[in-house]
Amino acid sequence: MRKIIRAVLIVLILGFIVIQFFQPTPNKGEITDADILQQHDVPENIGTILKESCFDCHSNITRYPWYDRISPVSWMVDDHIREGKDELNFSEWGKLDIYDKITTLEEIAQETKRKTMPLKSYKFMHPNARLSDEQIAAIEKWTTELSEELLKNSFSE
Ligand code: HEC
Repeated sequence: MRKIIRAVLIVLILGFIVIQFFQPTPNKGEITDADILQQHDVPENIGTILKESCFDCHSNITRYPWYDRISPVSWMVDDHIREGKDELNFSEWGKLDIYDKITTLEEIAQETKRKTMPLKSYKFMHPNARLSDEQIAAIEKWTTELSEELLKNSFSE
C-alpha cells in the first residue's frame, strides 16, 4: 500500500513539474492611442477602478502575481484573459465605432451592477478588485455621461 501511495505521489509531482514547461504567452502588449484612458478624459476614480478591477482581463496588459505563472492556474488565467478581451478590450477602445462603444458602456454598467464583473474567482484572489456600492454607482454615472458625450459629438461632426 505504502509503495503505491509513494508511486502515485511521485507521478503527481513529476506531472506537476512537467506541466510547468507549458506556459501560455503572457498578455504584455503596449499602451497605444486606442486605449480608453488615452481616448477620453476618464475621471480619476473611474480610471483607478478600471485599472484595479478590469484591466487584468480586459486590456493588452495583465499584471501577473507569482501564482498566476504556475500551471494549471496560468491556463485558467489565460482563458479568462482571452475570453475577456474577446468581449471587451479597453486597450483597443478607440477602434470601436460609436454604436459598439455605447452598447459596451451599457454592458459595463449592467455587469458591475449585477456584480457579475469582475469574475468571482478573480475577486477571491484580488480582494481589492471588489467594487463598493459607491464605486458601482460611480461607474453607472460615468457610462451614462460618456455615452451622452459620444452621441453629442457624433451629431456635431
Ligand atoms: C478575471 C478576469 C476578468 C475580470 C477581472 C473582469 N472581467 Fe469582464 N469578462 C471576463 C470574461 C471571461 C468575460 C466573458 C465571459 C462572460 O461574460 O462571463 C467577460 C465579459 C465582460 C463583459 C461582456 C459581458 C457580455 O456578456 O456581453 C463586460 C461588459 C465586462 N466583462 C466588463 C467588465 C468590467 C467593467 C470589469 C471590471 C469592473 C471586468 N469585466 C472584470 C473576465 C473578466
